[in-house]
Parts: sequence; C-alpha cells; structure tokens
Amino acid sequence: MPEFDLAIRGGTVVTASDTVRADVGVRGGRIVAVAETIADAARVIDASGLLVLPGGIDSHVHIAQESGPGIVMADDFASATRAAAAGGNTCVMPFAVQPRGGSLRGAVDAYRARAEGQCHVDVAIHMIISDPTEAVLGQELPALVADGYTSFKVFMTYDDLVLNDRQLLDVFHVARRQGARVMVHAEGYDAIRYLSDRLERAGETAPYGHALSRPEVVEREAAHRAISHAELIDLPIVIVHVSGREATEQIAWAQARGLKIRAETCPQYLTLTAEDMKGLGPDDGSFDPMAGAKYVCSPPTRDVASQAAVWSGIRRGIFDVVSSDHCPFRYDDPQGKLNPRGRTSFRWIPNGIPGIETRLPVFFSEGVSTGRISLNQFAALTATNHAKLYGLYPRKGSIAPGFDADLTLWDPNRRETIRQANLHHGSDYTPWEGFSVTGWPVVTIAGGQVIAEDGRVLSEPGRGRVLDRAVDPAERRDA
Ligand code: URP
Ligand code: ZN
Ligand code: ZN
Ligand code: ZN
Repeated sequence: MPEFDLAIRGGTVVTASDTVRADVGVRGGRIVAVAETIADAARVIDASGLLVLPGGIDSHVHIAQESGPGIVMADDFASATRAAAAGGNTCVMPFAVQPRGGSLRGAVDAYRARAEGQCHVDVAIHMIISDPTEAVLGQELPALVADGYTSFKVFMTYDDLVLNDRQLLDVFHVARRQGARVMVHAEGYDAIRYLSDRLERAGETAPYGHALSRPEVVEREAAHRAISHAELIDLPIVIVHVSGREATEQIAWAQARGLKIRAETCPQYLTLTAEDMKGLGPDDGSFDPMAGAKYVCSPPTRDVASQAAVWSGIRRGIFDVVSSDHCPFRYDDPQGKLNPRGRTSFRWIPNGIPGIETRLPVFFSEGVSTGRISLNQFAALTATNHAKLYGLYPRKGSIAPGFDADLTLWDPNRRETIRQANLHHGSDYTPWEGFSVTGWPVVTIAGGQVIAEDGRVLSEPGRGRVLDRAVDPAERRDA
C-alpha cells in the first residue's frame, strides 16, 4: 500500500505565514506531510506552476434563508455549496434565523436538517438572534453554544431582525459568559426609516434610492454604537460587511484604543460603487433604472474613495476577513429583485447579491495581482482568519500536518472574464458580469478529494458535513 492517498507535487504552498516550494501528502482526508518531495502516493496531482492555497473559507453566506413574504432566496444548500466548490472554497458558514416569537433551537434544528445530505463542502452554522427573550438568553443560547453553534449575528436594522440597544447589551453579556462569537450588522434602523420615508415622499423610489437611504453616516453611527456597547461589556465583536471609509475609521479608532473589535469586508465594497444602482448600461447608452436592483445590498456599495479607504484598512491589518456575504436572489423573477412591491419602491427590493463563487478570483485579482496585498495576506483573509475567528482552527484554515486536506490549486496567471453563464449558483445574474480577473482556482480539494476541476463540480451533494465547533474556554468570562 502506498504511504499516501494523494500527493500534490511541485506547487508553491502558501499559508498565512509562509510561501514555500513543497509537496503535500494526504492520508485519510487529512494533511499528513508537507515536504520537499513526496513519493509513494496512490494518486498524484501535478501542481507545477500553481499555488497551493488553504481551501477558501467563507464565513458569511446566506443560503435558503427566510426572506419575507413572497420572496425566495435563489440558493439551496446543494446549489450554494456547488458554487462555493467551483470558486475554490471548502467550507462556508450560513445562518439559521430565529423567527420573532419563535424558538432559536427550533430554527437551528430545522436549518441543520435542511443542510444534512445536501452539501458539497463543509458547513458550519451561525445563528441569527432576532428575539432575545429570557428563555433564549437563559437556556436556549447557552445550550446551543455547548452543542457546537458557537457564533451568531445580531442586527441593528431590518424590521424583523433589529435589536434595540438594551437587547444588544443583554445579548453581548450572555455571549461573553458563553464565550460565543458575535457578528454585528451595523446600520442605524431609525435613520434608515427616516431617510426612506423622505425619499418615498419625494418620489425617489427607484433602486438608487437604496443608496441614498443608507449613507455612510448611518453605518458609522451604528458601528460606533456597537463598539461602545462591546467596550462596556468587554466583548470582542466582529463588525461585518464594512462598506466604506467612515465605518473603517471607527474600527481603526477602536483598535487603536486597544478594544477587541474585529472586522470583515467583502469584494463588492472593493470593486463596485453606488453608481451601479443607477441602472446605467456599460457603454452602450442603455438605461434601465430597475436594473440597479441587481446591486442592492446592505450596507450599500459606496464610491472609489471609500474603496481605497477599505483597501488601506486591509493593508494596515484593520480587517481580519474578506467574506462574500453571498445573499442570492434572482433578478428577473416575481419572487426576487423584481417582485411586485420591489417595482414600486427600493424599500421592498430584497437586499443582497450573489458572490460565493466570485469572491476568491475577484479579491485575488484586485488584491494580489495588482500588488495591494501579499499571497500570505490573501490566505489569511480568505481562509486562516475565518477558521481562527469562528472555532475551526487548527482543523481548517492552513496547510500543515493535522489539518483537513482542504486545498485550492490556484493559477496566479490565468486570465478569465466572469460570466453568469459559467457560474453554478441559483441566481440568474452576477454583479461582476464581464469583470476581468487575473488568477483563477483550477482544482478544489476537500477532505483529500477533488471536488471541482476547471469549473466542473465533481462531488455529490452530501459529501460535505455540518461541523460542530467548540468555544475556547479562555473566552468564557463571567462578570
Ligand atoms: O444585503 C445584504 N447584505 N443582505 C444579506 C443580509 C445581511 O445583512 O448580511
Ligand atoms: Zn448583515
Ligand atoms: Zn449577510
Ligand atoms: Zn455575568
């Protein structure tokens, strides 16, 4: 019997800390050796000229999530994880949403049941807490954390999810005691409603109104408030999908004060702008204001100056993770972006854009290929730090003996143009249609198995598992 099930030969292994010419040996789904040469393997993959990266971990995706009356998310677990695999990812983290008035445990169990047997890549489930009752904070949440659901998101806006300041503080307190990781959607609910009402009264109902209803100050104020609450409770939080200069400045300020504030951004905030929501065609003079709905996400995309500020934050280490915030709706669909109410006002356009398959190529191209960040920063921001933040390290997120054999073989020189026709998600468009990239995932390996090769997904649904996690005991701190 050969010593290894699989050898990946001749590639350049990239981790958050090192870039080395090495072979990788895999046995039983795990990495067992990283060495100058690995002979004696049942299967050999030639990675000459390629980078061997930790498989992408996308710690912020929405899959088959309840999205309001008459609205249906465009991906189930099979299609979202198929797209993830094709895009070089080996683990994704979606959200089970507690309905108002409902049980958190019930939501998590039902969501997990939908995922089991459907996934191409491994999945770890975050929770969304929309109704922090005594029963939820006193019993359900501690029990769920103990059962391996160690992270959750809270919202400072959205009618059916928003928590007020007292609720945020109570939730933060319980998270501190349980050692759970809290993600915060920082946008101010009342300011958004005030601005939306005014825009509607002025007849500004087209998709671009979405950008006007959520200017940067709305995000900056909420980020500052979340940071202040986290300081009061002494809780490390993650401010997710940071969109621009103003919120980035708040986080930099908090970190400079020694507060444990972590941050996430997404490719859309680095490559798209609010102008996209105006529905202007590329260069052909076409104009369809409703086409702007394709780009409606929250927080909204900003401008070129804000993109530069977020890039600068990435380079300065203010951001820990780059996620997709994949939140797919179909565009030309009465249950999607162009639902009947959405046609009457931006307020009813479901928020979110698809990006699970394009995250890595867009970020690599704009980050590494342009020289803005190093290969090691890329590995940290797209895999290692996700695993560390959310309790998957040292099982996932790096390339060393003992880690799951989750790897992406990457061609740094390959040029491609992103086309909806080539993607695997359930949405009917991509915001990056026609976007040119340099750098492309050519083989995705999960648990030592090739699950995608050159845009073809080879795995069966059910290969990926739903992972349980454990909190770091040092993070459990009572007050
Ligand atoms: O617009 C977005 N991002 N929708 C997804 C939900 C969220 O807030 O992340
Ligand atoms: Zn959010
Ligand atoms: Zn999201
Ligand atoms: Zn306490």
